[in-house]
Amino acid sequence: MSLEHFISIHDITVDEFHHLIDLGLKLKKEKKQGIPHHILKGKTLAMIFTKSSTRTRVSFETGMYQLGGFPMFLSSNDIQLGRGESIYDTANVLSRFVDGIMIRTYDHQDVLDLAKYGTVPVINGLTDLLHPCQVMADLMTVYEHKGKLEGLKLAYIGDGNNMTHSLLYGCAKAGMDISVATPKNYEPDAEIVAGAKEDAKQTGSNIVVTYDPVEAISGADVVCTDTWVSMGQEAEKAERIKVFGDYQINADLFAKSKDDSIFIHCLPAYRGYEVTEDVIDGPRSVIFDEAENRLHAQKAVMAAVMGGE
Ligand code: CP
Ligand code: NVA
Repeated sequence: MSLEHFISIHDITVDEFHHLIDLGLKLKKEKKQGIPHHILKGKTLAMIFTKSSTRTRVSFETGMYQLGGFPMFLSSNDIQLGRGESIYDTANVLSRFVDGIMIRTYDHQDVLDLAKYGTVPVINGLTDLLHPCQVMADLMTVYEHKGKLEGLKLAYIGDGNNMTHSLLYGCAKAGMDISVATPKNYEPDAEIVAGAKEDAKQTGSNIVVTYDPVEAISGADVVCTDTWVSMGQEAEKAERIKVFGDYQINADLFAKSKDDSIFIHCLPAYRGYEVTEDVIDGPRSVIFDEAENRLHAQKAVMAAVMGGE
């Protein structure tokens, strides 16, 4: 299979979605068995970061190395993009040097423009709107722990942000039900909800957006949250902490999900805010499997867009 870009889970077909999950699981198994898989031998990935990162940077960099290729970290503090060089020129110039570009940035349009003006595949490593690589890792983790995706219910409680949006698209493709609970004025983007509902018609997944965290979490197989203060929202921190108080995943709320539900969080987490220690560090939390799966899921994405896998 060959994907042109990986910018949004909404853009890929249901078959492509399952192919990526299966390929991630296969590459993970091969890695653990010591079987080399140099699918991207001789290829270079430019990795542009205009926001901080631990997991995304390290997993892409390690993954590219494991695939036999070369990862090139480009901080916007160092490259001319950070001094006002256009996306148009950056896309054209980088396309003459490298075989793919991964970008983490604020404005989603910049990622779309990079793909439009460049001639190499573009991978979205997070924008204000979406975080698709994270959700591929999340759903791969759910599959490993539950043995299936279709028919499960995921509850997302908290801010209607980039994670929520990609989870909506991901669950719709996977045939998973998703219930999102946010405070008023922090709902997910209505267009994205509508797009996910459209995708869900193919898989039968049920999508609910509510203000009631108890309604959302009831009967959930997978419970998820994210920081209340995403990158770029630091000035709103005090206000957000006030507004989100009732949306904390603590033992009481978690108890309303299924007895064997698992807890996931993309990390970084802020214990005592969106989740309490007893939940995130408890026996049903799978956050470090989830973090590990960034590596394997993204190797699948890179192999698909740059290696035709
Ligand atoms: N989950 C995630 O994307 O983490 P980083 O911000 O550390 O890359
Ligand atoms: N919603 C968070 C995700 C961090 C990985 C943010 O955008 O900061």
